[in-house]
Amino acid sequence: MAVTRYIRVLKEEDLPIGKSAIISVGDQEVALFNYKKKLYAVKNKCPHKGAPLGEGRIEEGVIICPGHEWRYNLETGDCMQNPYMKTESYPVKVRDGSIYIGFKKDDQKILGSEAYNLPSELKFNISSVKKPINPEEQL
Ligand code: FES
Repeated sequence: MAVTRYIRVLKEEDLPIGKSAIISVGDQEVALFNYKKKLYAVKNKCPHKGAPLGEGRIEEGVIICPGHEWRYNLETGDCMQNPYMKTESYPVKVRDGSIYIGFKKDDQKILGSEAYNLPSELKFNISSVKKPINPEEQL
């Protein structure tokens, strides 16, 4: 069984309800959402044509891709249009006011070869914090 390693990415207070943050992870990005007081993390790249899911809007626990509006379950990453497609999702936890995202230690695809040998604190940065566009739903 693969070991999950939790990495601190930002303070809880830096991600209010209804906000998302894009976290750089080696040569990849992870979109982190605070949706209705619960935190979710998915790969920030739509498996359809690569649009940034962190800039999508959320409705009833589903991320709607800003590219062509394909929909993904926030928790599992499952695609609603295509049962054979999903985006990667990651476990998130909060400890002592900080948010941690869990990665499989041997997940080269996510960390990237460049990041693999760096100390963990160099692998992450907060590039932006964006509010999901969702005028009809109370976040
Ligand atoms: S890029 Fe996401 S639906 Fe096309």
